[in-house]
Amino acid sequence: MATVLIPGSFDPLHLGHVDVVDQAVELFGDVVIGVLVNFDKPSGLFSADERVALAEASLAGRTTVTVRAFGNLAVQAAADVGADFIVKGLRTAADYDIEQQMAHMNHSVTGIRTVFLPCRADFGFVSSRFIREIASRGEHIEHLVAAPVAAALADRFAQPSE
Ligand code: PNS
Repeated sequence: MATVLIPGSFDPLHLGHVDVVDQAVELFGDVVIGVLVNFDKPSGLFSADERVALAEASLAGRTTVTVRAFGNLAVQAAADVGADFIVKGLRTAADYDIEQQMAHMNHSVTGIRTVFLPCRADFGFVSSRFIREIASRGEHIEHLVAAPVAAALADRFAQPSE
């Protein structure tokens, strides 16, 4: 068995991510979700702590999965947790174009290898950006995220009562 790091923004974590985490648990054993954020210049919808808490809640019950925030490079986060590999989920060829460059770059810097896992076919269209945008306009995204994330999005975009 091995330890792998799955780095990402996870703003917020969605069911496509959950599928990749479950694949990684099955293949490797220990999985660290690395929520990569710039602590000096916070951006995005949820804070680093909120993203970690929502990922933990979405992945509850998975005993070999941990979630941590990192403010540095993916390769540094991988070294911090003693990861044997970085794991990334791929939805489309466009994902591959971006990810293979990062994988080669990361390998050239520290020698760490990246393993790509195809995401579940029925979640190939899901992205955190679209979820934020659609939820912000009050449409339903409950089928695309775990219940704690759906609740947090509803809360974040709740209309102020008059
Ligand atoms: O969820 P995302 O937005 O696809 O995640 C992209 C992420 C955060 C994994 C990627 O941008 C990343 O690894 N950022 C950390 C900074 C870093 O390592 N940069 C060098 C990449 S070669």
